[in-house]
Amino acid sequence: MNRKLRMGMVGGGTDAFIGAIHRLAALMDNQIELVCGCFSVNPKISKESGKLYFLPEERVYDTYQEMFEKEAQLPEGERMDFVSIVTPNFVHFDPAVMALDHGFNVVLDKPITFTLEEALKLKEKIDETGLTFALTHTYSGYPAVKQAKQMIAEGRFGKIRKVFVEYPQGWLSSKLEDTGNPQASWRTDPKKSGKAGCMGDIGTHAHHLAEYITGLKVTEICATLNVFVPNRLLDDDGAAFMRFDNGAQGVLMATQIAAGEENAIRIRVYGDKGGLDWEQMEPNSLKLKWTDKPMQIMRVGTSMDTAIAAHNTRTPGGHPEGYLEAFANIYRNFALTVSAKANGEEPTAEMLDFPGVEDGIRGMQFIDTVVSAGYNNEVKWVKFGDII
Ligand SMILES: NC(=O)c1ccc[n+]([C@@H]2O[C@H](COP(=O)([O-])OP(=O)(O)OC[C@H]3O[C@@H](n4cnc5c(N)ncnc54)[C@H](O)[C@@H]3O)[C@@H](O)[C@H]2O)c1
Repeated sequence: MNRKLRMGMVGGGTDAFIGAIHRLAALMDNQIELVCGCFSVNPKISKESGKLYFLPEERVYDTYQEMFEKEAQLPEGERMDFVSIVTPNFVHFDPAVMALDHGFNVVLDKPITFTLEEALKLKEKIDETGLTFALTHTYSGYPAVKQAKQMIAEGRFGKIRKVFVEYPQGWLSSKLEDTGNPQASWRTDPKKSGKAGCMGDIGTHAHHLAEYITGLKVTEICATLNVFVPNRLLDDDGAAFMRFDNGAQGVLMATQIAAGEENAIRIRVYGDKGGLDWEQMEPNSLKLKWTDKPMQIMRVGTSMDTAIAAHNTRTPGGHPEGYLEAFANIYRNFALTVSAKANGEEPTAEMLDFPGVEDGIRGMQFIDTVVSAGYNNEVKWVKFGDII
């Protein structure tokens, strides 16, 4: 295969938030082109959106079912290669399974599905079809995060003992869901979001970042979940102590009622020789702290010293490699993997470095565990489960 990959989209119309970010990221590296979509649950909005994205009318569909059926009937040289599904959580599993059944690779946003059972079934379908699947846990895409992961894997900080990960936001400080805000409405509705609110929406990002950077797995959780805004149906705040499989201890905090906060996700990891500190609102800096020398700041584009950071860096030092680029790294690595497989080549480890279905299953286990621990004052530690 020596051409751009053809992308379709479910969700991401003019009525949506994250779809536009996905399109910017997917198109950033000239590996991918948008060819079709069912951009909204409302067919009129889907049509209008398709026009704005300069797509031919016949490739803009009223339902995702129609899209998968019709695209599968197009000649091989025209039909989409993969679909990006960027709908609310309760519309993840069905379109993902249907896409795989019709032979399309899938990019899906987190949390992977509505329930853990669905996530396990989705894994079976991915294994059965052999198609490529990516899950957009964005924060794993930053070059400084890749550098940190590699440094920990090389043992530069010694044995990892302590992890602090936090994701404070403030946008749900008031009852925004009552104002008709679509993003707030489905996120606070257990029938659409799932059994967790804040913990499903951003706690899963924090948990994924902690496991991705350290290479460790959470084995037990002690948690508290809170609903601060009166009459809200799901948690809007919470915290968890975590035990990891090497004996390390962690603290995770996620909140959407920290009034005034933006997207201040931050992680600190400490081994017995030193530690690191990264925050996404200052994404090019990785602070390194040592027991025997002064603190260092490694910078993206100048002083990162791993091949994996270089592979995921686009600009010279000083130009922030931000949210769009982190998203784009997931898309580029996914596209390189799909193309390599189509050419009968083995994708390299660098190409395969994007979150997949196992990360999604871990995310659903995190939601289940933190919810069961978070409202239980009788039991201190709840086992994470041992599925993946
Ligand atoms: N990775 C990240 O950083 C990140 C950030 C934001 C959101 N997300 C995830 O992305 C997903 C979407 O979130 P959002 O904030 O963009 O939601 P949104 O409400 O802004 O947009 C959802 C879109 O899906 C469409 N839709 C709903 N049902 C559909 C159907 N049956 N067929 C076709 N389209 C349908 C809606 O019309 C809308 O266009 C969620 O799963 C969310 O958790 C991830």
